[in-house]
Amino acid sequence: MCGIMGYSGHRRASEVLVEGLKRLEYRGYDSAGVAMVENGRLAMVKRQGELDVLQGALPRLEGRTGIGHTRWATCGRPSDRNAHPFLSCDGKLAIVHNGIIENHSTLRKRLEAEGHHFTSETDTEVVVHLLEGHFRGDLRQAMADTLKEIKGTYAIAAVLEGSEEIVAARKENPLVIGLGVQENFLASDVTALLSYTNKVLYVMDGETVSLTPNGVAIFDSEGAQVKREPSLVSWSAEDAQKGGFEHFMLKEIFEGPNAIHNTLLGALDLIENGEVLPRTDFQSVKLVACGSSYHAAMVGKYAMEEFAGVPTTLELASEYRYSPGARETPLVILITQSGETADTLAAAREARRRGCHTLAVTNVVGSTITREVDEVLYTRAGPEIGVAATKTFLTQLVAMYLVAIRIGYGNGTLSHASMRSALSSLRQSSNMVQSVLNRTHSIEEASRMLDRAGHCFFIGRNINYPTMLEGALKLKEISYIHAEGFAAGELKHGPLALLDATTPVIAVAIKGDHTYEKMLANISEVAARDSPVLGIGVEGDTDLGRLCERMIAIQPVEPVFSPLPVTVALQALAYYVARRRGCSIDKPKNLAKSVTVE
Ligand code: G6P
Repeated sequence: MCGIMGYSGHRRASEVLVEGLKRLEYRGYDSAGVAMVENGRLAMVKRQGELDVLQGALPRLEGRTGIGHTRWATCGRPSDRNAHPFLSCDGKLAIVHNGIIENHSTLRKRLEAEGHHFTSETDTEVVVHLLEGHFRGDLRQAMADTLKEIKGTYAIAAVLEGSEEIVAARKENPLVIGLGVQENFLASDVTALLSYTNKVLYVMDGETVSLTPNGVAIFDSEGAQVKREPSLVSWSAEDAQKGGFEHFMLKEIFEGPNAIHNTLLGALDLIENGEVLPRTDFQSVKLVACGSSYHAAMVGKYAMEEFAGVPTTLELASEYRYSPGARETPLVILITQSGETADTLAAAREARRRGCHTLAVTNVVGSTITREVDEVLYTRAGPEIGVAATKTFLTQLVAMYLVAIRIGYGNGTLSHASMRSALSSLRQSSNMVQSVLNRTHSIEEASRMLDRAGHCFFIGRNINYPTMLEGALKLKEISYIHAEGFAAGELKHGPLALLDATTPVIAVAIKGDHTYEKMLANISEVAARDSPVLGIGVEGDTDLGRLCERMIAIQPVEPVFSPLPVTVALQALAYYVARRRGCSIDKPKNLAKSVTVE
């Protein structure tokens, strides 16, 4: 998984490439490089490390055509040698690649026998040697011939010395073209293009592209030219910037209320007129996702059973695709903020193969999942740059409620009045999230309880069990503190053995929820082992307050919707702990935002 950028036009290419790669660093950041046509020859600079290392090493280059790459290692460790781009033996061609070339070992053996000299341990390098072998003066034709030999997934961009043309291709990895005036761009996603243009063309699987300053031509796998109307992206360049916040993550946490609000636009039409799921008579539903999106799916299961009365099962995408699928569900919902997660894409294909109706919930318009499913419900969180999912997670929760309410209304579980009332409570949730954000200073204070912890437990019950799994995931991914989430009732079956005064426990108990009393009992068990408890509950709850060392208070809320304000409190909690520890919050070590490998 990596980020690709390409440019051909009238500006200094190195500047455009570095600027674009900055926006793509969330896709990987262990090394970066550029190659450009400089005085008719190819100039290449690449370095291990984040983009600033490359920037520091770049001389002033005047070239106007070039390609760039930011890497997340999959084949070959991060190093200068393994960084992209790669040059052909004669130094006349350069390529960058995102994806995996599955048959690279076989190809490499053959190419080496033919005399090609390899400089890296990567799978990618075979592509440039194949391209060199096929090149007879037409770069796009050489690319088409190369692709016939490759097995795997890719977004590839190539440049040739003495030329203004960039040739690109894609299969199961994102690629988008930005259209300018006497300049054109290529990138792994639109956030890299927004400083220059909002007019884009999405490249589809199997297509190749020829891009010059004066035009873009797209060809299908048979070599026939494809006509496609450009799309206009409504995100602004500013949307993708930090906007005065110290980190993207904090900015994105504060964008939560707006993201919820935008996702709820048109919700009534969606539900009343069946704009998604016109058919709702499903006997059962399966939710499939990875990472944080899986936690959203878990909340979705509770919502589905509460609002729609439909038995709902869950599966991790990486497990679903290999499961026997004996008792298949008629509706499979795939949740993926990026729309590019390899396992979720494979699960979508598998679900369709099994004859299920598929619905994707995603934040990225034009992402690959949207072409793999029967229907799409978009969350409208806007671009999320921080690797840790924050506002996109909140909007996934909203989407889960919407789908559950839609099915419940469609199948008669919810009357018109109860559907309207559920929707109105959901709308209120954006204010509740805002009220949590208005008190982040108290969360920051409370977060000091975790400063010296080596281990933390997060406990909750019912619909807040997944919320606490997500809270633990947030803390571990950005602060590197070992954190585990548990269903509170499970503590006594093992985890209690680990508790002592050095292990803080974060516990949520929402007054009004039918598991509230049980939660208080579980918290008492924890306090009796001397573990410091940080409680999350509704304001004025003195019973909870008495059991906890500190408390984060949220406004009174209908328990079923409480994951929204509770989640945002947990996101802020993780953020403040990580900030005091000086962690790389937006780009945690070893992680990437979009995981396009299996
Ligand atoms: C990565 C990200 C997570 C995300 C997961 C699934 O691991 O770091 O934040 O939840 O992928 O991504 P998706 O785009 O499918 O929601």
